[in-house]
Amino acid sequence: MTEHAGRVYVITGAASGIGAATAAILAASGARIVSVDLRDADVIADLGTLDGRQALSEGVTALVPSGIDAVIACAGVGSEDAVAVAVNYFGMVATLERLRPLLRPSLAPRAVGVASMAAIHPVDDRLVSTMLDGDEPGALSRAARLAEDPGTAGLIYGSTKRAFARWIRRSAPSQAWAAAGIALNAISPGIVLTPMVEGLMRDERWRASLATGAPMPLKGMMPPEVPAHLLAWLVSPQNSHMCGQIVYVDSGADAVLRGDATW
Ligand code: NAI
Repeated sequence: MTEHAGRVYVITGAASGIGAATAAILAASGARIVSVDLRDADVIADLGTLDGRQALSEGVTALVPSGIDAVIACAGVGSEDAVAVAVNYFGMVATLERLRPLLRPSLAPRAVGVASMAAIHPVDDRLVSTMLDGDEPGALSRAARLAEDPGTAGLIYGSTKRAFARWIRRSAPSQAWAAAGIALNAISPGIVLTPMVEGLMRDERWRASLATGAPMPLKGMMPPEVPAHLLAWLVSPQNSHMCGQIVYVDSGADAVLRGDATW
């Protein structure tokens, strides 16, 4: 028996990469997993769309009407475009908000999202504030405009992750989450060797940007099991008091880039 035995966890993005590794670890620990993805999942939903977010709520409720113990919002894309805004910010927030009522019956409810080390990279402040205002059409059109210019396109992914990390900080200590007994946190991985990164590795400019944007003094790039074990702990009953933290599992990139100004 493990601390996860008998618990029910919803994992988005469970068909690949970090989500798949997390699902495997937690299922092997005795948890029931409800997987959500575009394909190969219990609930098929495109979280970048309103219809898909509705399919998420309805699909999960139909499968586990008595409730769940945790949500792991992992589904995301690595692109620098409006799709990243729809999936990485609005899809992730919608996942957490829409599934929150299903956490109510749990004795140890937990929620966690996957931000990124890119949250500390340069961002477009207007895009970030438009996302935090909840203005999805406005954010999509801002991202589309940024994507047209090679000088600004590279700001979009980091902006989605910065906005998500700030949403976690704002939301976690609130009535809806902390006062309801739900521990809400996020992780910010460094470079994780998943299909998403394998695609980016083919881009020479992306590889060249690693040295400055992603210094990794502790062992370099990591397999998906590394962030997966952290996610597993964050949804365990043992994580009783962590609230609103963005935990960097990034081989030291945050410590190098932000130094001792952040503690
Ligand atoms: P991946 O590409 O291996 O897996 C992502 C999964 O999300 C896929 O199964 C995909 O089908 C699903 N997905 C994408 N769009 C979706 C949508 N609209 N609706 C539902 N599901 C959708 O990528 P990986 O690396 O496992 O990424 C998982 C999360 O980790 C993402 O949020 C990503 O931004 C984040 N991340 C990844 C890092 C890396 O180096 N791989 C570093 C930091 C953060």
